[in-house]
Amino acid sequence: MKDGLFQILDNPKTKAAQKVQHPNGKNIYIETYGCQMNLSDTEIVLSVLNTFGYQETDDINKSDVILLNTCSVRDNAEKRIRNRLVHLRSLKKKNPNLILGIIGCMAERLRDELKGVDLVVGPDEYRKLPHLIESVIETGEKGIAVKLSRVETYDDIVPLRKDGITAWLSVMRGCDKFCTYCVVPFTRGRERSRSYQSIIGEAEKLSEQGIKEITLLGQNVNSYKYENVGFPGLLKLIAEAVPDLRIRYTTSHPYDLSDELLEVMSQYDNICKYIHLPVQSGSDRILKLMNREYSIENYLKIIDKARKLMPDIGFSTDIIAGFPSETDEDHNLTIELMKKVRYDGAFMFAYSPRENTKAYKMEDTVPDEIKIKRLSEIIELQRLISLDRNRMLIGKTKTILCETFSKKSNDFLMGRTDCNRSVIIPKDKFKIGDLVNVKISKVNSATIFGDIIK
Ligand code: SAH
Ligand code: SF4
Ligand code: F3S
Repeated sequence: MKDGLFQILDNPKTKAAQKVQHPNGKNIYIETYGCQMNLSDTEIVLSVLNTFGYQETDDINKSDVILLNTCSVRDNAEKRIRNRLVHLRSLKKKNPNLILGIIGCMAERLRDELKGVDLVVGPDEYRKLPHLIESVIETGEKGIAVKLSRVETYDDIVPLRKDGITAWLSVMRGCDKFCTYCVVPFTRGRERSRSYQSIIGEAEKLSEQGIKEITLLGQNVNSYKYENVGFPGLLKLIAEAVPDLRIRYTTSHPYDLSDELLEVMSQYDNICKYIHLPVQSGSDRILKLMNREYSIENYLKIIDKARKLMPDIGFSTDIIAGFPSETDEDHNLTIELMKKVRYDGAFMFAYSPRENTKAYKMEDTVPDEIKIKRLSEIIELQRLISLDRNRMLIGKTKTILCETFSKKSNDFLMGRTDCNRSVIIPKDKFKIGDLVNVKISKVNSATIFGDIIK
């Protein structure tokens, strides 16, 4: 945690808030599940609570308040939380003063159905957390706040970030795409964009604080719109405002990815040449049922254009196996697409039916064993493609930004190339935050190793 960082910008509403006294201590322990938006929101939650005197602890046994920031995207994400809750409730039995809260997407989706917890707080209600905790202490009654907002809610809050050289930066919230399988529009609400002035201000502050790389976040950053500025315009403004920062972004919906965006990416050295571009399926018929709004032909055109403009650009994707009515033929089209694009990486999932979504009502379901078989096939194919693409890097020189120590040893550093490939190098005289020129020496499907170029 950063010392002395002013977490909440000048704002009469938040400035007036006084530290409150109560019988419980103020150690807060928080676990985060799900996507980067949740990781970034946890920093907002910590910032809000910090203003009221709460301190984060890594030791669950020393905590007075436990929060789980949750994900609802697939059933197994929710199952994990339910299992975790069984254990946490037993801690609460031992210490009745312990406050247990569910925040994030599962809180939004399940609301009052969540039993045995003191707090249920949805993604747009985090400002209320300190008051809700107080009220639980005073009344012993469960605190619930799950209203979704139509406007940006956290513009004036500076997230309480952990030390490091990379930072998340939320630029928009919510999603209006309503892909037929997805709960996110229900758990996160309508699309809304933060003002570009406030985003740029935050990027400049991060740069002054020594951050070296920012990742702009949104469920669909390409539909960013504030006044007359769209996402390409925003990216350009940021690239110019913080020329020493590396800039990444996620996630892009293929339907909204414009030529202008690719041009802006190609024009600025500090915008990383990497796009996470979820395709979901290689079959036009399935894409239609998913309401994805693009055809494979259009999707491949984007990849082509991007590669023409930026030959070394990296692509990753998300794929769902076993969407309702998916046939072997549809599945083979996905395999064909993967072979055509040759992604650098892919997140692959078995379709999980989610209540209240349109796909939930689609009948022609794929049996679990076929879903799993198709999923294993695409996972194995991607492993081979990744290995092959990694092999092609051997002997090439790349510049990496050192982010952390290697997981296995403090004698090695892990850095990322512009196109988002992680490379392990000997630490030598370098430290986290350094840009280092390396020559790729050996690879396997998961890891790339490099030698330092002296
Ligand atoms: N907004 C982002 C992704 C949000 S969810 C986007 O559109 O790219 C991340 C991924 O989870 C999705 O891309 C999709 O591949 C997967 N996913 C979402 N709902 C799912 C479901 N019901 N079953 C299986 N996978 C799902
Ligand atoms: Fe879900 Fe589709 Fe929105 Fe992504 S774009 S969050 S998959 S509805
Ligand atoms: Fe999960 Fe919510 Fe993110 S459902 S994927 S945590 S937006």
